[in-house]
Amino acid sequence: MFERLADQPPDKIIALGQAYRADPRPEKIDLGVGVYKNADGVTPIMRAVKAAETRLLAEETTKSYTGMLGEPAFRDALADLILGPGAHGDRRATAATPGGTGAVRQGFELVMMARPGARVWVSDPTWPNHSSILKHLKIETKTYRYFDAATRGVDFDGMMADLASIGPDDVVLLHGCCHNPTGANLDAAQWQAVTAHLAKTGALPFIDIAYQGFGDGLEEDAAGLRHLVAGVPEAIIAASCSKNFGIYRERTGLLLALGDAAGRDRLQSNLFYLNRQNYSFPPDHGARLVQMILTDDALRADWAAELEAVRSGMLDLRQALADELRQRTNSDRFDFLAHHRGMFSRLGATPEQVETLRRDYAIYMVADSRMNIAGLNAKTVPVLADAIATVGV
Ligand code: LMR
Repeated sequence: MFERLADQPPDKIIALGQAYRADPRPEKIDLGVGVYKNADGVTPIMRAVKAAETRLLAEETTKSYTGMLGEPAFRDALADLILGPGAHGDRRATAATPGGTGAVRQGFELVMMARPGARVWVSDPTWPNHSSILKHLKIETKTYRYFDAATRGVDFDGMMADLASIGPDDVVLLHGCCHNPTGANLDAAQWQAVTAHLAKTGALPFIDIAYQGFGDGLEEDAAGLRHLVAGVPEAIIAASCSKNFGIYRERTGLLLALGDAAGRDRLQSNLFYLNRQNYSFPPDHGARLVQMILTDDALRADWAAELEAVRSGMLDLRQALADELRQRTNSDRFDFLAHHRGMFSRLGATPEQVETLRRDYAIYMVADSRMNIAGLNAKTVPVLADAIATVGV
């Protein structure tokens, strides 16, 4: 039977990581997969995570199953972080999932169950795995303009023009903050306009929020999402704890569906059903750590402080790179790097230039010229700036 299987195309982001690891050049720079690295090139375990793990090791008495939807205290604490304390409490349905990707996948499956034949609109570009999962599920996908290659900002007129025809059978996938792969984000007025349009047309917003706290701050990064869900009757949110808690391999995420209070139990039972069909009980270790951190004042304060240091460190790297490029190019055309938010920026290099950067400078970025800013440090910023200027991006 297996001879009928087709070869699968390699995942671009994962394949890039493999190529980087195989490169013997000691000066190589990894700006590929979205993983935070500190100035020493290490992805550290956050202090609060270590402390919670120590406590968990001492206190945990069983490895028996947890709830099918995950621990309620985890789901409540993370939903509060995203939506605001207690917000929409009577219309929230939640399920713990294996990472943000697990939540994205379950969310799409919920769409299929609720509205077979629904179309999902994704930004052009979007995280490649969005499109890949949608294709795998055979969900019809449409794209809306998002990135203005000239300004490296959001092409908001193009976005709204492309979304002009949406209706109740459409789902619009939005990035809650820190757009992946571009780094260009909607501002408050644009979130308001999107909210009004979705409310008017009856299309369902699906918000993927994987970088809360990496952009403008924990509250600020959720502001657009909060405005949106307050203005529409239904929404789906997929959240990840991989980055903001630095627990990538623990696979910790949350699917949040908001409907009306009367339909909440039914919605919740559908999330229960989906977990049971796909993997049964969700992973617990990372979820338990997040729950402990968010519900303990001292751990929470320490986590928020460390996250804030990570965030401001990335902003410093952005500014430093923009400054270096100003000097080398005698122009302000790379200032967008300082205005983008989150881990990623799309540099605007051609695939050939990206390949030259890899071949001649051992600098690895995704072929669409997405760079992981958190892969840089004070030493590598000038190296990258030199290379970008020499290659003539
Ligand atoms: C990325 O886009 O690099 C991250 O979200 C990691 C991944 O799974 O692709």
